[in-house]
Amino acid sequence: MYHRSIHERDQFWTEIAGELYFENLDSSASTHNFDPSRGPVHVKWFEGARTNMAYNCLEKQIENGMGDKRALIFEANDEINCTEFTFRELLVEVETFAKFLIAHGVQKGDRVVMYLPMIPALPIAMLACSRIGAVHSVVFAGYSAKSLAQRVHDCKAKMVITASASRRAEKIIPLKKIVDEAMEICKSDGFCVNKVVVKHNADIEIEGVPHVEDVPFHSDRDLWWNESVAEFRTDGKPAPIEFLDSCDTAFILYTSGSTGKPKGVVHSVGGYQTYVYATSKFVFDLHAGEDVLFCTADLGWITGHSYGLYGPLLNGCATVLFEGVPTYPDAGVWWQTVDKYDVTVFYTSPTALRTLQGYGEDPVKRSSRASLRILGTVGEPISSETWLWYHSVVGDDKLPICDTWWQTETGGHIITPLPGATPLKASSATFPFFGIVPVLLDPKDGTEIQGEGEGCLCIKEPWPGMFLDVHGAHERYENSYFKVYEGGYYFSGDGARRDSDGYLFITGRLDDVMNVSGHRIGTAEVESALVQHSSCIEAAVVSIAHEVKGESIVAYVILDPSRSIEKRSSLEIHQRELITNVRMEIGPFAAPERVVIVKDLPKTRSGKIMRRILKKIAAGDVDDFGDVSALADPGVVDEIIKAERHAR
Ligand code: WTA
Repeated sequence: MYHRSIHERDQFWTEIAGELYFENLDSSASTHNFDPSRGPVHVKWFEGARTNMAYNCLEKQIENGMGDKRALIFEANDEINCTEFTFRELLVEVETFAKFLIAHGVQKGDRVVMYLPMIPALPIAMLACSRIGAVHSVVFAGYSAKSLAQRVHDCKAKMVITASASRRAEKIIPLKKIVDEAMEICKSDGFCVNKVVVKHNADIEIEGVPHVEDVPFHSDRDLWWNESVAEFRTDGKPAPIEFLDSCDTAFILYTSGSTGKPKGVVHSVGGYQTYVYATSKFVFDLHAGEDVLFCTADLGWITGHSYGLYGPLLNGCATVLFEGVPTYPDAGVWWQTVDKYDVTVFYTSPTALRTLQGYGEDPVKRSSRASLRILGTVGEPISSETWLWYHSVVGDDKLPICDTWWQTETGGHIITPLPGATPLKASSATFPFFGIVPVLLDPKDGTEIQGEGEGCLCIKEPWPGMFLDVHGAHERYENSYFKVYEGGYYFSGDGARRDSDGYLFITGRLDDVMNVSGHRIGTAEVESALVQHSSCIEAAVVSIAHEVKGESIVAYVILDPSRSIEKRSSLEIHQRELITNVRMEIGPFAAPERVVIVKDLPKTRSGKIMRRILKKIAAGDVDDFGDVSALADPGVVDEIIKAERHAR
């Protein structure tokens, strides 16, 4: 199949797409160009064919006889709010919400931002947008008001959907308040959102969640989900559906790059759904009506989009939506959830596994996990130790592990084993998926490395899950991904090593993108958050290895010398304030572990910060800095080492 997928590429993918509902599918209608020297870069799969992703997730499955099978299983943060929806029941929810969207002026192509916790309202809203051809842009509900505002404004959202609060273990986060703040920021930047829809969390009142009357509400703009949606449930009218061109936009999802503000990654309806359908089917060996996929990623990330929602539904399988945290009420909750719903495929991140590893085997062994067939991991490199723990403790020495390497931009799995078919090696993502031609390029001259070796991981040929554009910034699309090396390669930003058997091992980012607990964060984003502080003149941020989070952030900042900050207490206040700034500007997950106040930063004569040196200092590796001849003032290195010792 792999051979065919490469040599008869368009025919291969057209046949797979044909397993879903498309009108006018034609294998000669796909056109692509990865090489900017041959004209504008473009990726167009099945142009001219018409389809609808929500239709394929719901009606198509009902037609296939899955109507009464479970589609969405909601494991709430508390026991009493758990619910399940069959395909038919989920369709009713989606149709109802689609009618509501239309009635409030949302049309094909309009952007709708969701800032919601992991509750059924989120997948329902996403599917309703897909149904009417509106473009959803889900913003992870851990982002700050400023980050939310930036995304809402960038995609010019017509509507924002949120919840009164998000619940994580015992913690209640007032989401609506954050949205109000974000709307104020948008307004002061001259942009207004028409409507804010608020879902009350939870449906069954439980202690601690703010009561409806305590949630801030602006009656000219805000709508309560339950009240306003109800009338469309019983109106007896058919729900509209919009069949789109395969190349129309399905959704925009923002992600961090190495420079500047987050990029709005644009995915197409036809290509994305075909690729997510195929990867879910083959990598997770999904069988309609039988499998239950539990993907622990939040729907606010691409992993949640592709394998927590669209992938399983497109295959007629159930998906588990898990609201809480992996350690509440105790560290065995995920395995109890597996037993409770007969989960067959479990997909998580190395960070989560490392956290649970810390609790020992007991919480795992209290469950049977008898239903499990396949384990998956994604988001960061997984060490052999964690891989083996996953395999032997969670998988009882028998379950295959699919270490799947991919990115927001790629839509779905790129390098991954096929369970049962690919002999595994601990901590290797193994081989390319169908249709994928990965290459390792020499970082210095961009030549392809053959056989054993290490280099920049790039991809040569287009595949259907490939993103179409950076929203509103096509030049950035070409520059960041296709012009880094000449010759028509998609540049991933990651490094990889190929062993003598051809197995690929991902080594991590080669650019200025950090990976903290599997979250992508750009150094530039954190630095710009730090310099927002009135006392901060300049900042440089690096990441170091962290036992649980994979990487953690260390910030080096220069404070304004005109402020009297010599006193130790004042320094500590500044450090705390600077960390708060990052929490406010981006979100708590991007907060630096340590802020080191320095007088100067290691720069080249042309003023470029040598992060390589800071990285070594942060890691405590100060014996050999390699070639430092480019430094404008070599003396700063010792100064920073001293400041670092002080900060610890
Ligand atoms: C990293 C998540 C090693 C990588 C799907 C990539 C991985 C970034 C793996 C994308 C893996 C993802 N092994 N590293 N199996 N999977 N990564 O866009 O650095 O949130 O570039 O997509 O995560 O993160 P994103």
